[in-house]
Amino acid sequence: MDKIVNVLITGVGGNIGQGVIKSLKMSNLKCRIVGTDIKSHSTGFFTIDKGYIVPKANDDRFLDKIIEICNSENIDIIFVSPPIELPIFSKNKEIIENKTKAKVVINTEEVIRIGNDKFETYKFLKENNLNYPETVLASDEDGIKQLIDKLGFPLIIKPRVGRGSVGVHKVKDKDELYSLLKIVDSPIVQEYLEPDDEEYTSEALVLNGKMLGSITMKRELLEGTTVSAIVDDYEEINEVVKKAALAIGSNGPCNFQLRLTKKGPTVFEINPRVSGTTPMRAKLGFNAPEAMIRKIIFNEDVGEMKYKKGTILRYWNEVYVFKDYQESLEKDKFIEDAESEVDNNF
Ligand SMILES: Nc1ncnc2c1ncn2[C@@H]1O[C@H](COP(=O)(O)OP(=O)(O)O)[C@@H](O)[C@H]1O
Ligand SMILES: [Mg+2]
Repeated sequence: MDKIVNVLITGVGGNIGQGVIKSLKMSNLKCRIVGTDIKSHSTGFFTIDKGYIVPKANDDRFLDKIIEICNSENIDIIFVSPPIELPIFSKNKEIIENKTKAKVVINTEEVIRIGNDKFETYKFLKENNLNYPETVLASDEDGIKQLIDKLGFPLIIKPRVGRGSVGVHKVKDKDELYSLLKIVDSPIVQEYLEPDDEEYTSEALVLNGKMLGSITMKRELLEGTTVSAIVDDYEEINEVVKKAALAIGSNGPCNFQLRLTKKGPTVFEINPRVSGTTPMRAKLGFNAPEAMIRKIIFNEDVGEMKYKKGTILRYWNEVYVFKDYQESLEKDKFIEDAESEVDNNF
């Protein structure tokens, strides 16, 4: 299998896009990696073969630019990273696939809608007989009163649509609850899942209705980002996320965030896409981007995905970009074979 695969990864300045780059570099596949981002200061640009600055996802020119890049770079497959780009790629998957030779790895608009909105996620879990945190909308005054009567405090307030723990608050009494309800954007009030030190993130990979496997890590978060993780069997959790991934009708990677409570594994967030933790899983053998290319591009039988157990500790790293490259990227809106130095001397 010597064919070079031309891969387009969007949002290579963010942690998700960088994670896909890392995962593909870890694989035995021969990939030519092209990346996009809206900013010239995007780390990924300097670690791949070619990078393009593109308009924002809500700009009318965005789709045409992506199609133009796919055709000029002969792209075989697209990995979409920034959450904000998911709806436009999902909506226009067919158009992109008709106008280019690229396959778009993306979930349906319906799956993305459920994952994007934490109240919809709650309804999905409940309707599918999975454990769920009791959840009510801020506008449902009676619902909030009933929730307090039933569960007491603490409770969680968070935005219906959010990421990176922004606007997530643990509230200890009614005063705090009602004052935060005025501040947080489109809030929901949710059951507090305990204990704090039983938080997990899992990925289940389904392609064309076939479950290729799942992997779970117990994790510690700092300001919304995983800083350390332990990968182990966690069979009970894997059963739940596999069931949930099939129930939602996922195609491609789907990430679940959950806590192991007295009731058992309880999911509170679903991200139906590659995630920031994708390269951590890939390093241990669960390489979702590689598996997707093998299946979608080479039609290989991927089989049940296996992985090693272990602990992952994260650290900061730097990429040094020479001035000429930064300037030419800003002028031309693309950069090729940029020479950079990646600081790996830790
Ligand atoms: N119902 C809950 N009970 C306990 N902790 C929660 C709950 N909801 C969220 N959290 C905590 O807040 C973090 C961020 O919340 P999450 O729902 O994942 O939103 P985001 O989209 O910002 O990641 C979670 O990783 C978890 O630690
Ligand atoms: Mg989360």
